[in-house]
Amino acid sequence: MKIGVIGGGQLGRMMALAGTPLGMDFAFLDPAPDACAQALGEHIRADYGDQDHLRQLADEVDLVTFEFESVPAETVAFLSQFVPVYPSAEALRIARDRWFEKSMFKDLGIPTPEFADIQSQADLDAAVSAIGLPAVMKTRTLGYDGKGQKVLRKAEDVVGAFAELGSVPCILEGFVPFTGEVSLVAVRARDGETRFYPLVHNRHDSGVLALSIASTDHPLQALAEDYVGRVLTKLDYVGVLAFEFFEVDGGLKANEIAPRVHNSGHWTIEGAECSQFENHLRAVAGLPLGSTAKVGESAMLNFLGAVPDVAKVSAIADCHLHHYGKAFKAGRKVGHATLRCRDMATLKARIAEVEALIKG
Ligand SMILES: Nc1ncnc2c1ncn2[C@@H]1O[C@H](COP(=O)(O)OP(=O)(O)O)[C@@H](O)[C@H]1O
Ligand SMILES: [Mg+2]
Repeated sequence: MKIGVIGGGQLGRMMALAGTPLGMDFAFLDPAPDACAQALGEHIRADYGDQDHLRQLADEVDLVTFEFESVPAETVAFLSQFVPVYPSAEALRIARDRWFEKSMFKDLGIPTPEFADIQSQADLDAAVSAIGLPAVMKTRTLGYDGKGQKVLRKAEDVVGAFAELGSVPCILEGFVPFTGEVSLVAVRARDGETRFYPLVHNRHDSGVLALSIASTDHPLQALAEDYVGRVLTKLDYVGVLAFEFFEVDGGLKANEIAPRVHNSGHWTIEGAECSQFENHLRAVAGLPLGSTAKVGESAMLNFLGAVPDVAKVSAIADCHLHHYGKAFKAGRKVGHATLRCRDMATLKARIAEVEALIKG
């Protein structure tokens, strides 16, 4: 079976690393000449709107999936004429736009911060009066890793903020005084069977994920599964979906969904019976799902800008290096380490060792 992937970054690369043992081949459509997934499959170097190359991809593969959600809706619609596409065009349409996404949460009764649609500075001024400060302003589309957003703390931050974010459609959200951030990675098969990984605690530094720790018997697991299940059913979703939540007042508030494998699920490569990448491929290919159970205690630390010395990372017990083969650039996700340990105390000690390498 040959899988077409829109996007050829590290998520596509890790998908191919999981799918190759299943007998799958891969083709990645990505305009970047140095797309790092090309080490693991064919690289069709073309823009996402290039119909000739989209047609070539559709002709070559059995199905198409995505490794990022900011794919133009027309691209998905075009591909869908020729080849099965998972997750669906509708799931992407919702997940790529924060207004549609939050409106869906509200319709499904899933708590989310107060939010308003912003099409102008006047809309922003009115929304700030209604929601109050502090608040977070985000572009409706194309934001990631904390890009395309601004925290508004004082009245003067609001002045000119619409232009500062590029005079594009935005949303304003109430600032959530969260006690923690968690995410739930779920997988849903073509026949509707759904499985959930354990909730993951996430720490972001400057809006970018730094550390994920898989939980054991988290008290909010069942609630999170209930919320995520509503979204999966609503979208008749196929594949892996990640759902980010704020932990607040002992409950959960929905932040955002990603209709794809997710950075907070990278720990599953060594830390779960079947990784998010393998389970995504099983789901889209119509295969039975694998177990989402955790194996030991597990965490993931991102390498931003540079991968530490390979020998030093390898010298840490219980540590697995994932080097994405990308050029090093400040702030860029270029690799991660997964830790899988016998117990939580060991895990905490190992996290400190990896953090010391990152700082050094
Ligand atoms: N409404 C909010 N209140 C408080 N913090 C927020 C809010 N929205 C986002 N953040 C912080 O910014 C991070 C990135 O925001 P998010 O909406 O997840 O965008 P991205 O697509 O960049 O991941 C969040 O993980 C959280 O730490
Ligand atoms: Mg996020």
